[in-house]
Amino acid sequence: MARAVAERPEHRAWRRWPLPAVYAWAGGWWLLLMASWLGWPAGGALVLGTVPALWFQGWVPPGWRRWVVLGGLPLLMLTTAGVSAVGPWGWLGIALLLLVLYPLQAWRDAPVFPTPPEALRGLGETVALAPGAAVLDAGSGLGHGLLALRQAFPGARLEGVESSLLLVWLSRWRLWRAYRINPGSPLELPCRVVRGDMWASSWAGFDLVYLFQRPESMRRAWDKACGEMKAGAWLVSLEFEVPGVAPMSRLTCPDGRFLWIYGLGR
Ligand SMILES: C[S@@+](CC[C@H](N)C(=O)[O-])C[C@H]1O[C@@H](n2cnc3c(N)ncnc32)[C@H](O)[C@@H]1O
Repeated sequence: MARAVAERPEHRAWRRWPLPAVYAWAGGWWLLLMASWLGWPAGGALVLGTVPALWFQGWVPPGWRRWVVLGGLPLLMLTTAGVSAVGPWGWLGIALLLLVLYPLQAWRDAPVFPTPPEALRGLGETVALAPGAAVLDAGSGLGHGLLALRQAFPGARLEGVESSLLLVWLSRWRLWRAYRINPGSPLELPCRVVRGDMWASSWAGFDLVYLFQRPESMRRAWDKACGEMKAGAWLVSLEFEVPGVAPMSRLTCPDGRFLWIYGLGR
C-alpha cells in the first residue's frame, strides 16, 4: 500500500522543524541588535527584526508552528524586559522545568497538544475492535488522547507511551482522577502509561495505534506500523495524514480537523 513519495522541501534536514523557528528567532534578534547598534530608531529596528519571522513562517505548514516562528521576537523582548525581575536562579529553574517537560529527544517531535474531547467521535463505530483489544496512544502527553480512546473503545486495554517524565506523572494523576483507581497497578488500570520513546518501543502487540504527532513523523510511523503490527491492525492519526497512503476512512472532527484511519495489510 505504501508508495514512494517525493521529498517535500520541509523534510530536508536543514529545513526541518524546529530549525525555521531557530533561524527566525536568531535572525530577528541579530538584526534588531545590529539596527540598534547602527543607531536606527526603535520602530525601524523592530520592523527589520520581524523580517526573518515573516520569511521563515513560510517554511512551515499553517498551524501552531507558524505562531511559534512569528512569536519569537515579541517573546524575546518580553523575556528580556523580565530578565532582571526573574533573576538568574529563576531562569535556571524555568530552563530545568522545560527540560523535564521536554527531554532533548522530544524536541524534534510534537510538543504537548491535547486531543480535544470529542475528536474521536465515530471512531468506535468505524473501527471494530474485539473486547480486550490492545490500543496504544503513542506520545500520550497529558492523557487526553487516552480518555478519548476510552470513550471510543470502552472494552479496550489502553496504554500510553510518553517521553516526558513530568507528563507521565501528570497524565497518571489525571487518569487516576478520572477513574478513581490505583495508578500504580497496571492490572487494575483502564489505562497504563509508561515512560519511553515511542519509536524505540514495539507496536507489535497492539491492535490499534493512535497518534497525534506532526506531519514529518507520519511516514516514519507508517513504516514502523507496517514493519511491526499484524495484518488487520489499525493506525489512526489526528490531523496529520500519511503522505502517499490512501486511508481506509477519514472522519471529520467537530473542529473541522480530519481523523485519518489506516488499515494495515488490507
Ligand atoms: C500533540 S501531543 C499529543 C498528546 C496525546 N496523544 C493527546 O492526543 O492528547 C504529542 C506528545 O507526544 C510526546 N512525544 C513526542 N515525541 C515522543 C517520543 N519519541 N516518544 C514518546 N512520546 C513522545 C510529546 O511529549 C507530547 O506529549
